[in-house]
Amino acid sequence: MMNDIVDLKEVISSEIKCANDLKTLDDVRVTVLGKKGRITALMKTLGQMDAEERKTKGQALNALKDEIADLIKSQEAALKKQELDARLATETIDISLSPRAQDKGHIHPISQTIEELTAIFADMGFAVAEGPDIEDDFYNFTALNFPPGHPAREMQDTFFLPDDPDEQGEHIKKLLRTHTSSVQIRHMQNNQPPHKIICFGRTYRSDYDMTHTPMFHQMEGLMIDKSTHMGHLKGCLQDFVRAFFELDDLRVQFRPSFFPFVEPGAEMDIACSRKDGGLKLGANKDGSVDSWMEILGCGMVHPNVLKNCGLDPEEYQGFAFGMGIERMAMLKFGIPDLRTFYESDIRWLEHYGFDPLDRPNNATGMKK
Ligand code: PHE
Repeated sequence: MMNDIVDLKEVISSEIKCANDLKTLDDVRVTVLGKKGRITALMKTLGQMDAEERKTKGQALNALKDEIADLIKSQEAALKKQELDARLATETIDISLSPRAQDKGHIHPISQTIEELTAIFADMGFAVAEGPDIEDDFYNFTALNFPPGHPAREMQDTFFLPDDPDEQGEHIKKLLRTHTSSVQIRHMQNNQPPHKIICFGRTYRSDYDMTHTPMFHQMEGLMIDKSTHMGHLKGCLQDFVRAFFELDDLRVQFRPSFFPFVEPGAEMDIACSRKDGGLKLGANKDGSVDSWMEILGCGMVHPNVLKNCGLDPEEYQGFAFGMGIERMAMLKFGIPDLRTFYESDIRWLEHYGFDPLDRPNNATGMKK
């Protein structure tokens, strides 16, 4: 019987080693240790032996049983690990894979421009303020020193909403704001000076041609405290265009202009050259400038506007500026027609839009 035990051990061990899945291994276990198993059968023969033999054989059989049980256990662990490894190998999600192969969206040049403008002005300490698209006549015009009937209102013809009386029975003319300057008023009325804000948003005028659409975007800037002067306005705007167009020596000029809410008022131009039908920003190599391009309106906030916002113009002063965001985007990214911004043409967006993961932004830095 001792020989049988040695043989059986070899047979069973090799059966266990060959079992390469959990089901086969369990079958082997049943044929060895089950009720009708091979070791169980040998155990049963112990009863017919004399005491001495039963002792030695019994010990040997028990040892075999333990050994086989251990072998099954370790084979089971090995198979389970194999199974897990196989699953892990097939079920992986490669989170390092970029979505490049898939259809992904693009950042619209307007959003990109807003982000770049925010980054530049945030560096100079401006905070972002907001205001509504639907405005009262007061915030869009009257508070900004366009009295009723003033001819400057004609230059900003917009869309008026039905003139319903409010709860007090008062008729307040509602309109779609023609500029973001209304946010200056709201901000000054609701906050304590000093003020240092920028604001972005949709603006509306009833115009439509290659350089005008009924809806467009503007950015407004406002800085008010006790000693802000025209020199600050000029320095701030010159630094801004140099950063935005990434031209460290971009030359600017200020031309007197009229906006009811500033005094003095100006338009700022940047140097450019328009040779051979093309447009290049910056001066010529020899420093001469052959053309200027208007890019924004600005000026020192009119005393009447400060008064309308509860500020004493003898104590407070400052500057404001406003620009079209589309215009800035067209100049920076070489987009020829304003109307294409809103046509939702996917090919246009693929061409002029920005990769959401790989674009100049606040986090990665503006220069790429
Ligand atoms: N709101 C003016 C416009 O829409 C721009 C502007 C803003 C001019 C602030 C001066 C100061 O034309």
